[in-house]
Amino acid sequence: MSTRSVLFVNLRRIKREGFESLVAARRLGHRVVLLGRALPEFAAPLVDEFHQVDTYDTELALKTAREIAAVHDIAGVVNFTEIDVQLVAAIAAELGLPGMSPEAAVLARNKLAMKNALTGIEGVLPKFARVADLADLREAVARIGFPCVVKPTGASGSKGIFELHGEADLEPAMTELSRIADPAFDAVFRQFGAEFIVEEYLVGDELSVEGFIAGGQVRTILLTDKVTTVPFHLEVSHRLPSVLPEAAQEEIRRRAEEILLALGFDHCAFHLEAKWDGERMRFIEVAARPAGDYIASHLIKAATGVDFFANVIRVATGDPLELTPDRDLHAGLRFVFADRAGTFEGVDGVTELFEEPGYDHVFTEVTPGSQVALPPANFGTQRVAAVCARASDRAGLDALLDAAGERITARIS
Ligand SMILES: Nc1ncnc2c1ncn2[C@@H]1O[C@H](COP(=O)(O)OP(=O)(O)OP(=O)(O)O)[C@@H](O)[C@H]1O
Ligand SMILES: [Mg+2]
Repeated sequence: MSTRSVLFVNLRRIKREGFESLVAARRLGHRVVLLGRALPEFAAPLVDEFHQVDTYDTELALKTAREIAAVHDIAGVVNFTEIDVQLVAAIAAELGLPGMSPEAAVLARNKLAMKNALTGIEGVLPKFARVADLADLREAVARIGFPCVVKPTGASGSKGIFELHGEADLEPAMTELSRIADPAFDAVFRQFGAEFIVEEYLVGDELSVEGFIAGGQVRTILLTDKVTTVPFHLEVSHRLPSVLPEAAQEEIRRRAEEILLALGFDHCAFHLEAKWDGERMRFIEVAARPAGDYIASHLIKAATGVDFFANVIRVATGDPLELTPDRDLHAGLRFVFADRAGTFEGVDGVTELFEEPGYDHVFTEVTPGSQVALPPANFGTQRVAAVCARASDRAGLDALLDAAGERITARIS
């Protein structure tokens, strides 16, 4: 075992994703030093050393990282989460480790700064504007037109995505957004606060692009097809690889590369979200971290054999990436939603479903016995479980995920 350590900054909130990220470091033979707000119980046996820090306090976190580097051989600093992109870039810069520039990290984290940096790329951006209050929103919408979308500039996890279809939608959306964009509601709003972006509503097939950029070289692994709920855009299912026409996928890969280079992303995983309108790729956003929703932790490996999380660590330590597929399957997942607010008791239908060998996992995302609520009251608890499946072709995968959607139900009391 190497005596080199990888410095993790926080872990993904979903335990199974956090677990897989730590196991990936172990597979590569690294020690793990965790700098984070908390050490979850599942993580304790996989973390060699834990430093508890309020990672929203950049100065304190940087000071702690320097102290860690003084006594450990740190090979790289890595984040699997959205909110830690800037801190990881700052630590990498400070310690001379592979990483993206702090300037690029701001573009990664702020949906407005990101779009402003891409206005030179023809045809991919929706019309957009910054808004701080209702008056701004009215003015912006007069120019952009309906339908459009208003959302916080610095959030993630689809917290506060509001579709606007007419004048009557503006005030309720702003009221809700002002309530949500409060650090007391969610700490993610400590970074950019009550700043919003309104965008033209993009139509088409929703997808994401998963890959890495290292030394300015973009390496796309695959595209994922995505279905979201109406109207709050929570993810319902992910299916990969995408079955969009090959020419469309080529164009999307080319555009993704152009965007990543324009933003100056480097030495990181990326997860780019977009729509394909039949002719053009329309850009939603790109994150400088691996995809969530088990895409990077489980599904890419299930479909291709590529160990995405191990490569997240390789890109952070400057080691060569290993992206050669060893299989050619279709993998996907479908979320199970609570249909009303109440106490989540568990999921029904799993035993019968698992008679079929194509199902790999059922993950619960909410602890049984806890309260769940639906958006807009809460954006994090309606999804109570996820079912993952694999098949040799898309039709087979669709059949498995559709059956899971019908047969697995959330018990709410
Ligand atoms: N301009 C737009 N047009 C159409 N749909 C949009 C637009 N902006 C956002 N959406 C929908 O809302 C979803 C979430 O938006 P966005 O990615 O900007 O927010 P987020 O908080 O980062 O969410 P997540 O973390 O789930 O990606 C998108 O995946 C898409 O389905
Ligand atoms: Mg997003």
